[in-house]
Amino acid sequence: MSMTVTVAQWLVRITGVLLLILGLLLWTGDVPLSLIPVHILLGVVLVLSLWLLAATASTQGVPMGMAVGVAILGLITLAFGLMQRDFLPGGAHWIIQGIHLLLGMLTVGSGEMIGGRLRRLQPSAA
Ligand code: HEM
Repeated sequence: MSMTVTVAQWLVRITGVLLLILGLLLWTGDVPLSLIPVHILLGVVLVLSLWLLAATASTQGVPMGMAVGVAILGLITLAFGLMQRDFLPGGAHWIIQGIHLLLGMLTVGSGEMIGGRLRRLQPSAA
């Protein structure tokens, strides 16, 4: 696999784990809400890395539909995360938080899916 793919895949993994940990700490109130911009910045890096991974994968034999789907999922997760504070304010906001968590995990998973597909196309690579 190319260096670009390896770097993009690891950026998705590392930012994904950090986002999950920081997000859960924000949710439980164990870290101050002033860390939300850090979480958002990590989210932007995650989505940019995912787009790079999807774009590169589409040039290396991964079906265009899969690459576009992964890129759109990243866009939805980013847009939802940026806007979610205004959705269902009050007692039902946990539903929005749950959807955000689910979308986030799906997005990280989609990076694994497309990376795995690339590795199967190039079996000699790590
Ligand atoms: C992709 C860009 C992302 C953006 C812009 C973003 C943005 C945000 C924002 C603004 C909050 C605070 C929301 C609130 O207080 O209502 C939040 C919370 C949270 N985020 Fe993210 N996030 C992103 C990705 C992720 C990912 C990938 C994960 C998990 C893998 C994740 C997990 C969480 C969790 C668990 C919370 C706490 C519960 C919640 O408020 O939804 N986020 N995120």
